[in-house]
Amino acid sequence: MGQDHVSRSRKAEEGEDEGSNTSVNATLGDVIAERFNRRDLLKGALAVTAISATVSPLALAERAEAQGAKPTFDFKEVAAGIDERHHIAEGYDADILIRWGDPIFADGSPFDPRAQMADKQRRQFGYNNDFLGYFPIDGSNRGLLAVNHEYTAEELMFPGLGKQDEQTVPDPNDPKKKIDVSFAKMTREIAEVEMAAHGGSVIEIQRQDGKWSVVPNSRYARRITAETEMEITGPAAGHALMQTAADPAGRRVKGMLNNCAGGVTPWGTWVTCEENINYYFWGKLADSHPQARSYKRYGVPVGRYNWGTWHDRFDINKEPNEPNRFGWVVEIDPFDPASVPKKRTALGRFKHEGAAGITNKDGRYVIYSGDDERFDYVYKFVSRGTVNPNDRAANMDLLAEGTLYVARYAADGTGEWLPLVHGHGPLTEANGFKDQGEVLIHARLAADRLGATKMDRPEDVEVNPRTNKVYAMLTNNNRRTAQQVDAVNPRADNRFGHIVEMTPENLDHASTRFAWEVMLKCGDPSIADVGATFSSATSKDGWFGMPDNCAFDSMGRLWITTDGNSGITTRRNDGVWAVETEGPLRGTSKHFFRCPVGAEMCGPVFTPDDGTMFVAVQHPGEDGEEWPAFNRPSTFDDPSTRWPDFTDGVPPRPAIVAITRRGGGKIAG
Ligand code: FEO
Ligand code: CA
Ligand code: CA
Ligand code: CA
Repeated sequence: MGQDHVSRSRKAEEGEDEGSNTSVNATLGDVIAERFNRRDLLKGALAVTAISATVSPLALAERAEAQGAKPTFDFKEVAAGIDERHHIAEGYDADILIRWGDPIFADGSPFDPRAQMADKQRRQFGYNNDFLGYFPIDGSNRGLLAVNHEYTAEELMFPGLGKQDEQTVPDPNDPKKKIDVSFAKMTREIAEVEMAAHGGSVIEIQRQDGKWSVVPNSRYARRITAETEMEITGPAAGHALMQTAADPAGRRVKGMLNNCAGGVTPWGTWVTCEENINYYFWGKLADSHPQARSYKRYGVPVGRYNWGTWHDRFDINKEPNEPNRFGWVVEIDPFDPASVPKKRTALGRFKHEGAAGITNKDGRYVIYSGDDERFDYVYKFVSRGTVNPNDRAANMDLLAEGTLYVARYAADGTGEWLPLVHGHGPLTEANGFKDQGEVLIHARLAADRLGATKMDRPEDVEVNPRTNKVYAMLTNNNRRTAQQVDAVNPRADNRFGHIVEMTPENLDHASTRFAWEVMLKCGDPSIADVGATFSSATSKDGWFGMPDNCAFDSMGRLWITTDGNSGITTRRNDGVWAVETEGPLRGTSKHFFRCPVGAEMCGPVFTPDDGTMFVAVQHPGEDGEEWPAFNRPSTFDDPSTRWPDFTDGVPPRPAIVAITRRGGGKIAG
């Protein structure tokens, strides 16, 4: 979820060029020439960034070097731009695999957007697909796909609702006053459809005659929702701060919320991350309440949903500990639909974006995870035990015990991992941490005490398995001031984000030391004051802003997906970009897949043979006012796109797309 969506309420200027440029191989030199010839386009870009327009000196300096080198990505890139549809590089197919509302069990009901019921939604594919994990059954031809369903958007899901949170109308008795009518149109049934559309799905998929489909009646099919029973494991299990009326032992919880990205372990489990959990709670704690400080630090409550009307656990006046039971990494065995998902408290509680991991050279399992909030931190977890490659069962509780660390970046390009261990340094009872459980439940407060480095919204953090270098996507931070700029977050008002590369000391992921550098500053590289550092071999279609998820293919090449590009931020839709990380072309990016309007791009994952890339198109149609060609709110009844069905009366539907090369072969091979 773009938790900040800075641009959502801003209107684009009238009459701007849509910027759907079809030329595919222009370099930065061409794009600069075009900019200077087309003052209107220039003016549009200036309106976004309020800066002068000359080419970035760095881009020019790199140009000569970059243009002789051979790219590792072999495909003809797609044009950047905005419209209702998706677009894929020439020579590839991008086929819809499954959509919100498609039944995933034999007895599932067909999708009927005007007759939605919670009972039906519990048997159908959920909303807003984000992370995708592929678990092979027959190599790259058949496997399980684990899918996160991050959040719901009532204005696009249900007819006649519009946005229901923060709604006011003028007071007929006093026009200066407003009456709060938030959630006035919500019913219990609608709220429970929302709860059922959250969580995750496991589906079995197969490739036959080159095309992917969902295996009907699979014994693995599973829906996980906001009400699925889960176990709390690790140091915070049973803690006083985890106990509620429904669960006095503090060891069982219903559901997972706002699951954004995640990871796949080598022992074949799905780790799925709870992110913006503060949205689901409402009510008010007294300022003197012992938890008031941690609530403030975690931004609880927001009241984006009204589930607390019908379910006491979402009302913090009634259940002040319930928010402590969310914000965790959840481990799920996708091969056993009866298995109880496990919340892994050893990995700490914060707004986890993802949980990509790697088996360290000493056999311990290491998971990197960003806390996606402006000025929050990058973490890693190192398991206590080691991965047993010959005994799956022996690994099933590996994530229950280990050490959580938070990153501090020094200006000289080195960095340190600081352990969140009770009794270590300032993490003492005198400072408000009674035990390890409390350190983990209040991981943000503990990391504050340790002096971690405040980052520009850390999203995915992933290891290149070929090089062991670690890449952190910092998506943006429009609140960083010039005084707050530091070496690792080098831009004030960082609207377009950047990517930091970290190299563990001795390539040992358990080491507490690392070296780092800023690999790429994102945004339009032809505008000097943006300060983007894409290589000059990057075309005008090849640059992007707001990196979010990423994946490495088996060759160790980096693929990035974005969240936040739009008509007024970068004049292009979100999508997939391929980015060179090594050699003279480092920082060269190419556009591979483009989302329909309003969608963010999530979940890039490859089959082991690199023959298929699955991507998740999340919240299609969420932009209305940001797209000058539409320029009004986008709703169920009047959406900015009806992707992927394009059928009258059917709203846009988040969906999974399978990308394959026509005629077979590796993606960009
Ligand atoms: Fe749900 Fe950090 O994006
Ligand atoms: Ca998302
Ligand atoms: Ca995001
Ligand atoms: Ca994300």
